[in-house]
Amino acid sequence: MRNIVLIGFMGTGKSTVGKRLAQSLAWDFVDTDYEIGAVTDLSVSEIFRRYGETRFRSEESIVVDRISRQERLVIATGGGTALNPANWSALAENGVIIALHATLDAILARIGHKNDRPLLKGPKEAIEKLWIERQKCYAQADYIVDTSQKTVDEVVREILALL
Ligand code: S3P
Repeated sequence: MRNIVLIGFMGTGKSTVGKRLAQSLAWDFVDTDYEIGAVTDLSVSEIFRRYGETRFRSEESIVVDRISRQERLVIATGGGTALNPANWSALAENGVIIALHATLDAILARIGHKNDRPLLKGPKEAIEKLWIERQKCYAQADYIVDTSQKTVDEVVREILALL
């Protein structure tokens, strides 16, 4: 059984939806950022701060390569994971790719003050530029689900109906 892979910008709900979806299916849930933290014993922001984004991306690819070989996983990726073609191929080979979409306003409202994401620390214009740049990649997914105005349960139901 192929994995279910959630991609999309930061704050679109990948981890929250992924956990709930995995519960509904009685599948295991894997979060790439969590796995990177477990392997390196550092938080994502700590890796960025100490070693830079390049190091984070290489840890991310190692995790993706490993988990893509498994089955019946709901995988929540980081917002930049799918941008690396090698990650995309590995995930797509053994999984259905679902992009969670949300407007930037919905994302910023959701994230609020408790934001420790290194790539969301800049001015709104920089975040917006990144959001726009990445839409083309996310649009290649097998399915796209807009999460902007929906509850987690509504999004999960919508995904289940797609499968
Ligand atoms: C990133 C998103 C983050 C995390 C890292 C880089 C990105 O994950 O992987 O900070 O490049 O968009 P979330 O999408 O879960 O916040």
